Amino acid sequence: MKVNGQHYRSLWWDEGAKALQIIDQRWLPHDFRVQQVDSLQDFADAIVEMRVRGAPLIGATAAYGMALAARLDPSDAHLNSAWEQFNKTRPTAINLRWALNRCRDYLLPLPEAARADAALKLAHEIADEDVEINRNIGLNGLKLIREISARKPAGEPVRILTHCNAGWIATVDWGTATSPMYHAHDEGIAIHIWVDETRPRNQGALTAWELGSHGIPHTYITDNAGGHLMQHSLVDLVITGTDRTTRRGDVCNKIGTYLKALAAKDNGVPFYVALPSPTIDWTVDDGVAEIPIEERSTSEVTHIMGRDQAGAIGTVQVTPDGSSGGNPAFDVTPNRLVTGLITERGICDASPEGLAGLFPEFAKA
Ligand code: MRU
Repeated sequence: MKVNGQHYRSLWWDEGAKALQIIDQRWLPHDFRVQQVDSLQDFADAIVEMRVRGAPLIGATAAYGMALAARLDPSDAHLNSAWEQFNKTRPTAINLRWALNRCRDYLLPLPEAARADAALKLAHEIADEDVEINRNIGLNGLKLIREISARKPAGEPVRILTHCNAGWIATVDWGTATSPMYHAHDEGIAIHIWVDETRPRNQGALTAWELGSHGIPHTYITDNAGGHLMQHSLVDLVITGTDRTTRRGDVCNKIGTYLKALAAKDNGVPFYVALPSPTIDWTVDDGVAEIPIEERSTSEVTHIMGRDQAGAIGTVQVTPDGSSGGNPAFDVTPNRLVTGLITERGICDASPEGLAGLFPEFAKA
């Protein structure tokens, strides 16, 4: 999508430098900084530190990391150790393991001399596929927004609530939850987005930055406001992303998503989750029992980053000295609270049958 009128993907290959370029998301929305990722440790750090973040983008970044590993040393031992190094960076988003497995399974049967070129080609393929998948998620989700808009008085916006940032910078382009929003806006449908702040890291500010750059009306709200807005019929639809979806349609997403789903259920607001198929973990059934939840540094809770009135970007402490913080980064929304799943192949029920109907080849495996 566009930044100041120029089209960007969230990562791109610089042929001259023979290196990956990323947008360092730690500085957004205050500063737009592009960074080159140069070493295997740098790839791992970029994911851990959330310079790149969002399940699909983590996967695509790891694929380029495997390409660098193959260029440095294409042996089985080295590729396996790079796989291990990247796999432990973030435990919840399954796209990471999906991309690493896809790279390793493709590369290991090849002769060593062919692996470096093949790995880079595969990383490009994974990135391009992600763009196309998310574009199609948007076209499928657009149908929902069209239907709601058609029931409203002319010009009245469809009011959509979203949590975290499942936007274009969380993917290679388009985003998952935001893709239907971009398509609807571009088609001329009036929409208004309620953007959850999403403490502790305030990914909502990233979503607000994206939507603002695209001219989409939105309001940044505290994480606790959603239930109140739903009670007062101010939300027509919730769309979030997901970091891992189980084969029965439980959805693991940014902490706080579950509470939004509960409020949506209580108020009869449709709660949809947008996801690319690599986010489905076909080996997991019960998300609450089986998905590992990332515990991040408590400093993300006790401190907050922002821009002061003089324009300086800095971090301040919000808690008293000595108070400890707790920081589970994700929660699981059981399938019974999910109205439907928006995928690149269509919309389905959050159920084993729903997902198997759209992806029979994976469901059988
Ligand atoms: O911790 P983050 O910022 O990587 O978490 C991101 C999310 O929870 C997103 O909603 C999810 O990855 C879907 S991104 C298209």
